[in-house]
Amino acid sequence: MYDMKIVINGRRRLSGTVKISGAKNAALPELAAAILSSDEFEFCGVPEVEDIKVMFEALKNIGAKGEFINNKIKIRIPSLKSGLVPKDIIETSRASILILGPLIARNGYAKVSLPGGCPIGDRKIDFHLEGLKRMGAKINIEDGYIIAKSDKLCGIEYTFPNKSVTGTENLLMAATLAEGETFLGNCALEPEISDLIKLLSSMGADIKQGENNSLIIKGKTTLKGSIHKVIPDRIEMGTYIIAGCLLDNEIIVENAIPEYIKSLLNVLENMGVKIVIEKNRIKVNPTDNIFPIDVGTKPYPGFPTDLQAQLTTLLTQANGISRIKENIFNRRFRHVYELNKLGANIEVKGNTAIIKGKTELRGGVIKSTDLRASAALLLGGLIADGETVVGNSYQLFRGYENMPEKLSQLGADIKLIKR
Ligand code: EPU
Repeated sequence: MYDMKIVINGRRRLSGTVKISGAKNAALPELAAAILSSDEFEFCGVPEVEDIKVMFEALKNIGAKGEFINNKIKIRIPSLKSGLVPKDIIETSRASILILGPLIARNGYAKVSLPGGCPIGDRKIDFHLEGLKRMGAKINIEDGYIIAKSDKLCGIEYTFPNKSVTGTENLLMAATLAEGETFLGNCALEPEISDLIKLLSSMGADIKQGENNSLIIKGKTTLKGSIHKVIPDRIEMGTYIIAGCLLDNEIIVENAIPEYIKSLLNVLENMGVKIVIEKNRIKVNPTDNIFPIDVGTKPYPGFPTDLQAQLTTLLTQANGISRIKENIFNRRFRHVYELNKLGANIEVKGNTAIIKGKTELRGGVIKSTDLRASAALLLGGLIADGETVVGNSYQLFRGYENMPEKLSQLGADIKLIKR
């Protein structure tokens, strides 16, 4: 799996329609939420990507029964055969930390591997652990595992020092089975979290949204199963919209929710890109002159850190100097060095990338460093003259469903080489 290469012959014009898959970052916590009930769940619109497969395997390891076919997951955890989520199953993803909250809530015991995921910064988990400890869990970290025990979780008042996506999801899920009321302040409220709230509510959880990004949860003794459709992936949406802005491409993005991606659409509008927004479709028309911009990443509804790398590639084609400030993760610029190998002129100073455009990119041999960086490098290959080989492409398949096929259908000359 790790020795995969994607080979692109660049400068082909892309046109046509691309359909967006379900959101990986919604499906991940939603699958973990299946731990909270012994009933059956049916999820549709689940992207067939590596991080989801890893989550599914980890759930099977603790006793889940089910199947994952044609973007549908049927799953039921009638009883927990183990509280163990081992390293070898889970080390490439963040799934283990999402399992921790629901598992301790239902089982009273969890031994989960410390989470992996993209090497984009420190990726601390202190808010998760602090919240669970306050709920009554005893937590130790030993040999790369988080070991949590609790007779019963109790409701708490906890305000996150900073917004955390999986932190909010974890404590929210744990609170649905805790005794009494939980108040969570300064929550992240990404669309994926709203979708998780929708699922948990359909399971019988009592969750209300309060003022200033707070959530108030009244714990229940049991929750029931559910049938749930995962929302479309806004990061995949944004990635194809950005692909549509390259060269004189003309792409229609279908199964899109424009509301989820307003921050990107605003940025692109300021760059002079011509975009037509319909109910579930976004059309990107060819643009002759792309203007430079200054933008900073922020929690939703701000500009997402998960699109920073892809926007960087586009800004190599803007006429002038752009700056992107990365405010969420402290090491999320590794794609820059790879893009520079293709002829980009990007300098990183502290947490800001300074992109001098417009540069003609030429093909080369580069390496994926993380999931979103992989997508940014593919976009680089699409505009580079000649052949680009992107190594370590396993990263891409952790979060993008069939990206080489989807690009190929739009007219790209792209192939995947597995060894
Ligand atoms: N943070 C702490 N302590 C914590 C938790 C977070 O200091 O206990 C800090 C982090 O170090 C980071 C910031 O808070 O600087 C935000 O981290 P967050 O917890 O929100 O990130 P995450 O939950 O680990 C999720 C997504 C990421 C996405 C970020 C930010 C999932 C599975 N992952 O990560 O997605 O970049 O939120 O939006 O939902 C991706 O899909 O490529 C990806 C990396």
